[in-house]
Amino acid sequence: MSDYNNYNSRRRFLAQSSLGLLAFSGMPALLNAMEGMQAMPKMPPRKASPDFKPDVEIELFCKQASVPILVGRETKVMQYSAKRLQGPKEAVTEIPGSYLGPVIRLQKGQKVRIHLHNGLSEATVTHWHGLHVPAEMDGHPLYAIDPGQVLVYEFEVLNRAGMNIYHPHPHETTAKQVYHGLAGALLVNDDEEASLGLPSGEYEIPVVIQDRLFDTDNQFIYARGMHDRMTGFYGDRILVNGRADFQMDVDSRAYRLRFLNGSTARIYKLGWDDGTPITVIGVDGGLLEKPDIKPYVMLAPGERLDVWADFSGRSEGSQLVMRSLSFSGVLPKMGMMMHTGSLPVGSDYPIFTARVARKVSDSPKLPATLSKINRYQITDTANPNKPVPIAISEAHMAMQLNGRPYAYNDVQDFERIPVNTIQLMEIFHAHGGGHGRHATSEGQGAEHQGGMMGMGGMRHGRMGGGMGMGGMGGGMGGMMMAMAHPIHFHGQQFQIVSRSVDMATGDDYATVRDGFIDSGLKDTVLVMPGETVRVIKPFQDFKGLFMYHCHNLEHEDMGMMRDFLVV
Ligand code: C2O
Ligand code: CU
Ligand code: CU
Repeated sequence: MSDYNNYNSRRRFLAQSSLGLLAFSGMPALLNAMEGMQAMPKMPPRKASPDFKPDVEIELFCKQASVPILVGRETKVMQYSAKRLQGPKEAVTEIPGSYLGPVIRLQKGQKVRIHLHNGLSEATVTHWHGLHVPAEMDGHPLYAIDPGQVLVYEFEVLNRAGMNIYHPHPHETTAKQVYHGLAGALLVNDDEEASLGLPSGEYEIPVVIQDRLFDTDNQFIYARGMHDRMTGFYGDRILVNGRADFQMDVDSRAYRLRFLNGSTARIYKLGWDDGTPITVIGVDGGLLEKPDIKPYVMLAPGERLDVWADFSGRSEGSQLVMRSLSFSGVLPKMGMMMHTGSLPVGSDYPIFTARVARKVSDSPKLPATLSKINRYQITDTANPNKPVPIAISEAHMAMQLNGRPYAYNDVQDFERIPVNTIQLMEIFHAHGGGHGRHATSEGQGAEHQGGMMGMGGMRHGRMGGGMGMGGMGGGMGGMMMAMAHPIHFHGQQFQIVSRSVDMATGDDYATVRDGFIDSGLKDTVLVMPGETVRVIKPFQDFKGLFMYHCHNLEHEDMGMMRDFLVV
């Protein structure tokens, strides 16, 4: 959305498309947003500090490469690679033949220094999704570096054990860089986890799920037009750990599968093909307190899942397929019509196959208790009666949060958070129209900070900055564009307090509702159409800018992102 020419060509495209009508009512909002946009300043790349004594030191390179994915020609990708300068050997493990970055494995309490080398032909910066690090180390687009530059990160691992992600976060090009291959898993281990003796080594397998679209020459195709970005971009090939038709050969025993949805937009409903329930032992922020057995599990972009998969008792040669099962209601009804790919979101398709290759007699037992989670109560929050609003605004060409597109240095009152406070937050769809306000489990019609919520849904004066959301906010526009959004907060992980859903979503919601795991710590939560989710999030230790955004990365790049300023 950076220049008027671009805008005009999109307008032309839209006028010809079935969404032309919607495009017109969205226009004033977009024009205002473009005027208000502040350019991201350039910071000089941070250098190593001589006082910092790292336990682990890594050089991380971003570069162009070619890798074999499909039969025939290699695919051009962007790729992370790493070199360990200091620290234990397990700190860096390459995934042979994959475009995915190496698995980085850290211990809680370690001091880590990472030199990020930009070997691309465009700006980039790396974010440690899930890690609680100072604002300056968090990979804010403000710190993006140009080709040839090096950025040095230094931080201590404060997180409990869990699976995190490292991925690029440059302004408006996050999705494109992730799609082309820049992403990797970052695992943290700690003593609490180690005491459980969970399956490890070859029995702990990362499962990074991504979808890609290839041309006839085996090259990635990426977002071709506006509607690819409105709904998010979807490929028709499912890759696991960078491979098509992924199969794992397993022993007849228990495994620990570490899932990560690394797709830019695709949401999965994971289930075993023979109806075996999924035994979940952890989510984004690490282990649950006790295992949770689910018929299926929803996994949205940016979310992680720790699964106990027990193949003991299965015969040699038998196979179990992890599928994405059918569901509905995550895309706008109109988007669904336009989304004509051969692998529709919500259809039923395989993700990978586990084949029992060897019969063994011994298998570890699933622990009955896994971890202790320090929980906050609503009464611990600084704002029990005025949750910080996270309003999802869905308007054509204007997927936004709190009524505004991302802009640097555009922090609103309620986005300033005092450091070392615990905040109650409410994520909801801002459109009024057919969706009335709904009761939450804490009572009806709680007022947000700054009194922005009223009967009509959103108050434009405060939240929208006079952006003319009215035309799209209510009625048909809002209803037609309603879709699911994985909302992600940088900084510390949060607890999910409640979900409530309005009546209009009935049948669709029933296809996903048993697949949420709300008992663990999260940094990304899937918010369905018509759904309101309350979370409690701590803002401890660090001041500065911490982003919150939709982890549908096309949405993020369209501006569905904001900053909290922790002061
Ligand atoms: Cu994984 Cu700000 O993102
Ligand atoms: Cu993040
Ligand atoms: Cu979104």
